[in-house]
Amino acid sequence: MIGTSSARGQKARAAMAVGAALACLPLAGRAQSGADDSTGTGMATASIATGIPQPLHERPGDPRQGRAIVASRQRGLCLLCHRAPIPEERFQGDIGPDLAGAGDRWTSAQLRLRLADPQRLNPGSLMPSYFRTDHLRQVAPAWRGRTVLAADEIEDVIAYLASLRSTTSAEAAR
Ligand code: HEC
Repeated sequence: MIGTSSARGQKARAAMAVGAALACLPLAGRAQSGADDSTGTGMATASIATGIPQPLHERPGDPRQGRAIVASRQRGLCLLCHRAPIPEERFQGDIGPDLAGAGDRWTSAQLRLRLADPQRLNPGSLMPSYFRTDHLRQVAPAWRGRTVLAADEIEDVIAYLASLRSTTSAEAAR
């Protein structure tokens, strides 16, 4: 696995780079109670154990689009913190877990919660909440009231992550 203690200095530098890159994104505040549900849509049914079973958008997610969003330094920014089986992207992060095999570890409902609102699971999470507008601090004016990814983009990313099974992850959604 990547991300052993020998990589601590590198991690600190990566964290600084991530902080700079994320300066334009809504910085998530700590969840106040975890009991509120002001985001509407399927978020109202979120539960820590099962996640968010209800898709956030009627169009089924497209794993190829999801892969593009995850790889993108403008849209997903996922590779600042994660590795993923996207070999053409050279610089990948190790602040969060490797996304390879995510489809083996989590159901789509669990992935949806992890993406939409990771702070609900871990109030100290470094991972931005990609679909949440409540309880955010330091939001740049252009981002107020907006989520980082749109509902259909969240579904695309979930379809991609769900396709990352241990046997096929290197080829998933290519
Ligand atoms: C600023 C760093 C950062 C960014 C950007 C980020 N994540 Fe994360 N992610 C984390 C961390 C750290 C964790 C570990 C759990 C925690 O601390 O909340 C995590 C956990 C996860 C998990 C659960 C992984 C597991 O197997 O336990 C998934 C899935 C995930 N992230 C997907 C994504 C996707 C997809 C994106 C981009 C749309 C993304 N992350 C962007 C930091 C980040």
